[in-house]
Parts: sequence; structure tokens; C-alpha cells
Amino acid sequence: MTKLATIEYSNRRKDLMQQLPRGAVVIIQCAPVYIRNGDVEHDYRQDSSFYYLSGMVEPHTTLVLVNGPEGCSSNIFCRSKDKLQEIWHGRRLGVDAAPHTLMIDNAYTSETLEAQLIELLDGASQVVFGFSRENTAELVQQSLSKLRGLARQGKISPTQVVDLDPLVDAMRLLKSAAEIDQMALASNISVVAHKRAMSVCKVGMNEFQLAAEVHHQFSVQGSQRLAYGSIVAGGDNACILHYTNNDQVLQDGDLVLIDAGCELDHYASDITRTFPVNGRFSEAQKTIYELVLSAHTAALACIKPGAVFADMQNAAVEVITQGLIDIGLLTGELDKNIADQSYRKFYMHNIGHWLGMDVHDVGIYKFNGESRPLIQGMVTTVEPGIYIDPDDVSIAPEWRGIGVRIEDNILVTKDGYRNLTEYLPVTVADIETLMAG
Ligand code: GLY
Ligand code: MN
Ligand code: MN
Repeated sequence: MTKLATIEYSNRRKDLMQQLPRGAVVIIQCAPVYIRNGDVEHDYRQDSSFYYLSGMVEPHTTLVLVNGPEGCSSNIFCRSKDKLQEIWHGRRLGVDAAPHTLMIDNAYTSETLEAQLIELLDGASQVVFGFSRENTAELVQQSLSKLRGLARQGKISPTQVVDLDPLVDAMRLLKSAAEIDQMALASNISVVAHKRAMSVCKVGMNEFQLAAEVHHQFSVQGSQRLAYGSIVAGGDNACILHYTNNDQVLQDGDLVLIDAGCELDHYASDITRTFPVNGRFSEAQKTIYELVLSAHTAALACIKPGAVFADMQNAAVEVITQGLIDIGLLTGELDKNIADQSYRKFYMHNIGHWLGMDVHDVGIYKFNGESRPLIQGMVTTVEPGIYIDPDDVSIAPEWRGIGVRIEDNILVTKDGYRNLTEYLPVTVADIETLMAG
């Protein structure tokens, strides 16, 4: 499994603690284990921020970082080695190996968490944890009440609570060189998988068979899981933005929209391509496709440090709206259609989102109501689309049910951008050539 160097996690912990005052104690817990049905568990996927700070994939784990008088100490509470449990359920890192493997100062067994936390919080100035994490909030609440109850024994409980997530979110939003390499690898895997889908697609295949080709290619290249549920939408299913049924037969003369991305060591990719099931775009499909592609190109052209999301969205909206006027799907002046947002009947979502460990990654989009400027090291998607209601009889039949989205993964660089998914064909000619081959 491709993995970042352990020092990367250690440096993140140091960076985080440098932002906090002396006496701060950070508590972050792993993702819970969820039951699927009966005694079957959902596949376990570590919480992104917990993994970001620990590099630890196992459940039942808590990380506690302390800005103490002698500097920062890191403490992990994890499952103990247990031969019987490991025979049944899989290997465990264990308390003895955890410090060296994770570059963490101290490791304790999870069962001691509540008792140890009282000691670690005694005399702390503030407790820093994710306010939206219910389990941790409950743990902190209980620990603080116990600590206050021990005042006569000389224990001192912290008086401030601080939300951890905005701090970690801001760190996660800016990708390091190692993270960028990882995201480029994830993007490459997804590019190859989308190419495979274009190559093998045939009239009469089911959407789930095409999905299986994509997923197979993800797995054979080392991806551990999907970054999100794949969308493989033939014909007018493409007009359902979050279509995931993926169970219809692909028809001659239809387009198929695939929105699928692999995850690699907890980093996501997120690609959409739309192509003709039979390998050749019809005139109407080509018109809409090239309009979306022009909007995509216009949005990309805005990307550089200092630009804002609204620049990309406005550029795409202008191209799409003018194009829809030109072909008669909207009427009247460009400015009026933009002002009254009539384009939203066909393009009803935003231009993109942050991409990272989560497909819709963390990080705020606005400061004081203003769109936040891009800076080097951010990764965003660019994904304009046009979706024409199949049931709208006011629209000429040749357009109805066409749904097109084009989505790439874009790194903001020092003076522009790098398209991490640029090697996936995107023009009509390149797609038709690949499919003919
Ligand atoms: N695949 C989810 C999205 O494109 O936002
Ligand atoms: Mn996306
Ligand atoms: Mn997507």
C-alpha cells in the first residue's frame, strides 16, 4: 500500500500544536465501527482528520496531544495485542509497536483511556476537540465532570474548550508535496479506469457492468476503495445528479456519464466523463458536450492564486448561458438570463469543491461573506454540466434527456494550475478515437 512517510504525520501534529497555547490538550478519536446488518460490519474506513494526524488505520483508537511544560507529547490509546482476537479478526498494531511505528511518544491500551485522560487533562488550560464529534464531546464532558469532582485532591480542570476541526480543516486544505504526489497517483489510477470504461463500453451492457470495469481497474492498480459511490448513468439517468442505482441497460444512441474516483491511502480522486455508448456522438449530443467543454475550459482559465471560486463559476455560467441561448434552449439577452438565473434549469450545481482526503473536502469557501482566494497547494474539482429534463415537453425532443458533466482534479500552483487528470481524453475527437480503437 502506498503510504505517506510517518514523519509527515509527526510534522502535522507539531504544526497543529504550535498553533495552540501552552497547556492545550487535543483529543481526537477514530471513526466508529458501524453495523451493516446482523453481526456484519460496514467496511471500516478511518476518519480523515484522525488519520491525517495519526497515520493509524485501526478502530477503537484515540489520539491525545498535550502542550505540556516540557514540550508537546503525543499519546495514542489503541487495542492491545490479543492472539485470539487476531486469529478471528485480523492483526493489531498493539501498544508495544505503536510508538515506533507511528512516531508517537506513548501508547496505552484503549481500556485505560478514561482514567488516563483525567491525568492528562489535570492542569490543562484548554481542551481542544471536534465539537461536532458526539462521542468525543461526551467523553470530554464526562472527563471534565470527574476532574471537577476531584478538586479537593488538588486536580485542576481546564476552563476553555476550543473546536479542533477548523484548525485541522485549514491544515488539510493546503496539500504538502507528498500529499500532491499521492493525489496525482490516485488521479492517474482513475484516469486509467475511465479509459478502460471508454474502451470496453458496448451497446447492451448494463451500467453495473461498466461500473465493474472501472472498479476492477481501481483495485488492480492498488486503490483500497472508492472515494464515493460511483455514478454510471446511461441516457437520461445522467440528469439525476446523484444517480447511483447503476442498473439499467446502456442503449444505442445514448450517452453514458461516469462520475467515479478511487481512493488511495485515504486520498480521493473525482473524475467525470460523458461519452457515447456506441462510440459516436450525435449532432445534438456533440453540441451540448462541446458547450460543457467550453465552459470547463473557461473555468480552468481562471485558476491561479488570488482567483476565487466565483470567477470559475461565473466564467462557466456565461459560456453555458450564451450557448443555451444560441441553440434556442434559453431566450432573451445573456445578462438577463444570468441575472434571473434561468440557466439553473440546465446547470443547477456549483463549479466544483475542494478535494483531498474527503471527496468533498474540508475547508471553508468564504471569508466574511466573500469567496475565498485560491492559494498554491489547494486542490479543487472543476465540473460544469448541462442536464436537460427528459420530461419537459417545452423542449425540442432532440435535446431532451441529454446529461453531460466533465470533471477534472486541479491543483493550484504558484502561477496557475496543474490538471491532475489531464491525460484522460476530453475532446469529442479524442474520445471517439479511443472508443474506435
Ligand atoms: N462525485 C461527487 C462530485 O462530483 O461532487
Ligand atoms: Mn466532484
Ligand atoms: Mn464527481
